[in-house]
Amino acid sequence: MFRVYVTRKIPQEGLSLLQSHADVTVWQGELPPPRDVIVDNIRDIDGLLCLLTDKIDQEVLDVARKLKVIGNYAVGFDNIDIAEATKRGIAVTNTPGVLTETTADLAFGLLMAAARNIVQGDRYVREGLWQTWEPMLLLGRDIHESTLGIIGMGRIGQAMAKRASGFGMRILYYDSAPIEEVDKKYGAQNVSLEQLLQESDFVTIHVPYTLATDKLISTRELNMMKKEAILINTARGPVVDEPALVDALQKGVIAGAGLDVFHTEPISKDHPLCHVANVVVAPHIGSASFRTRAKMATIAASGVIEVLQGRKPYNIVNPEVLRNY
Ligand code: DGY
Repeated sequence: MFRVYVTRKIPQEGLSLLQSHADVTVWQGELPPPRDVIVDNIRDIDGLLCLLTDKIDQEVLDVARKLKVIGNYAVGFDNIDIAEATKRGIAVTNTPGVLTETTADLAFGLLMAAARNIVQGDRYVREGLWQTWEPMLLLGRDIHESTLGIIGMGRIGQAMAKRASGFGMRILYYDSAPIEEVDKKYGAQNVSLEQLLQESDFVTIHVPYTLATDKLISTRELNMMKKEAILINTARGPVVDEPALVDALQKGVIAGAGLDVFHTEPISKDHPLCHVANVVVAPHIGSASFRTRAKMATIAASGVIEVLQGRKPYNIVNPEVLRNY
């Protein structure tokens, strides 16, 4: 029987599927397993189902003697050294598609919360500060008929465009080439990053984290944005130069931010971003709905099983390792 190690309790749908095909061990901690626990467990397993909080790098992979597949319980896979896995013939799978709409819901929610002071309003009421209806209380920015700039028009970017078109927003996007279907459907326009930053009221990031997207948004880019603009990031923290963002927010270079991801996670309550009034923060919950997390568990588990059974899953990240399947 195949042996599979799972680095955290994931929804039962996924665990049951794995258990019907393999001898499964699940790390029972509420926090990620320490690195040495992963190293110990990876030695003799056939499959690993891990999370974005587990760094699977060369050092960890060096220990694995018979590992065939790593199923990442996330669509992003920057926690895994894909080149090293590929070199060793280890297949890597992710969870594309199933979390698209859920993540876009959260990104749009952050946009609305930051634009309309929803979180500040909640605090204001809870703190007993509300005395009367006030003409100038917590004035925010209109979402309808404003301009949304989408960086990365992939699945989640397109789901944002769908939402934005319902709000009558003008849609600009930055991607390698125009996507005709998206342009037609949502009246979107593929523009340079500079134009997007200069003209958008809201800028939302939907690119994976790679060397090419490291600090894609830094001081120069923030300076190009409108003073009234709000930045939304539900992709990966390091796509934004965090100290530069803090500085821009403190100096009023941009008006606000809605952030679900950070350079190093988790951030503590002392993090400077928690002390800027016009920022809404969330603890990396883009895909966190019951239904979506269950689907992610099923897809991650089936990817692992398929590879172990000699089949090629649709969600393989490095198909070159399964050339002969
Ligand atoms: C992902 O899947 O990459 C998200 O960040 C977590 O669901």
